Amino acid sequence: AEALRIGIAGLGTVGASVARVMQAKAAELTRQCGRDLVVTAVSARDRSRDRGVDLSGAAWFEDPVALAKSADIDVFVELIGGEEGPARTAVKTALEAGRHVVTANKALLSKHGLPLAEIAEKKGVLLNYEAAVAGGIPVIKTLRESLAGNSVSRVFGILNGTCNYILTRMEAEGISFEACLKDAQRLGYAEADPTFDIEGNDTAHKLSILTSLAFGTRIASNDIYLEGISNITQADIRAAAELGYRIKLLGVAQKTESGIEQRVHPTMVPTASVIAQVHGVTNAVAIETDILGELLLSGPGAGGNATASAVIGDIADIAKSRPGFQHGPVFGRPVKELKPYKKAQ
Ligand code: HSE
Repeated sequence: AEALRIGIAGLGTVGASVARVMQAKAAELTRQCGRDLVVTAVSARDRSRDRGVDLSGAAWFEDPVALAKSADIDVFVELIGGEEGPARTAVKTALEAGRHVVTANKALLSKHGLPLAEIAEKKGVLLNYEAAVAGGIPVIKTLRESLAGNSVSRVFGILNGTCNYILTRMEAEGISFEACLKDAQRLGYAEADPTFDIEGNDTAHKLSILTSLAFGTRIASNDIYLEGISNITQADIRAAAELGYRIKLLGVAQKTESGIEQRVHPTMVPTASVIAQVHGVTNAVAIETDILGELLLSGPGAGGNATASAVIGDIADIAKSRPGFQHGPVFGRPVKELKPYKKAQ
């Protein structure tokens, strides 16, 4: 079969990892997919930076939208980030040009996922986004494919690696919130604007995607009750520990009598519970269904290689698919109304 031609837009922590791993594992990927996977084009702001990967064979685009339109790619991989701006324009352009798209951009999907999904469905191309939720954990595939026939009653979990890393170290080492956040940024876990991590927005973006898949709702992160971890102090963590609890930032979506409720907030979980054993940058997603019962997935939730693993899985999926193949609706349908969350009085 012909080689699959891949264009990567954005060569930050994740983009550079994707390029490096694809180069290092080229033979393994060819064996698994039955064809070569070749990065033929890239786009990033700074051309001179050393990213630990030889990109001399790839065409260089200053403008991601020009890359998205290029006739020399089959797959457009969006790793720029941000819910508007070049990421949104480039993804839309690529889909309209009939390119498959792989993205890790939860902010974009949370806000504009549905119209983008409609373009992909109309054009008969794939829009894959495993890396957008819980880093390397294959939760999108699990919800879309493996749990067919199950009715989900609840999805919840630790969906932000930065927050869990901060809470874990604050508890274990007694060090300050600010020092932990700096380390999370240095390690490439945090968003470009870490406010999104610590105030819970990133968790809300991811939760809205899970909710849509689990319950067939429109993606709506605005309807999520939101509280982050920036006010958590050592005193809170110690008080919780004395009572036999740990504090975790959880995203929760569940069926209630009046609709689907979504919320993100610091939660006291019993120290002996499984979710309390999820440490550091690890994420965990619990899914409760009628047929299967309770499922818990856990694994690396942020960072270059963990996220790259999910991106490459999505690219390989495209490499293996027949022309015109689609997974069915990209997100949950039919659209049900969500219950706006009201805080208890
Ligand atoms: N900043 C995110 C996190 C990256 O810490 O989980 C993965 O989406």
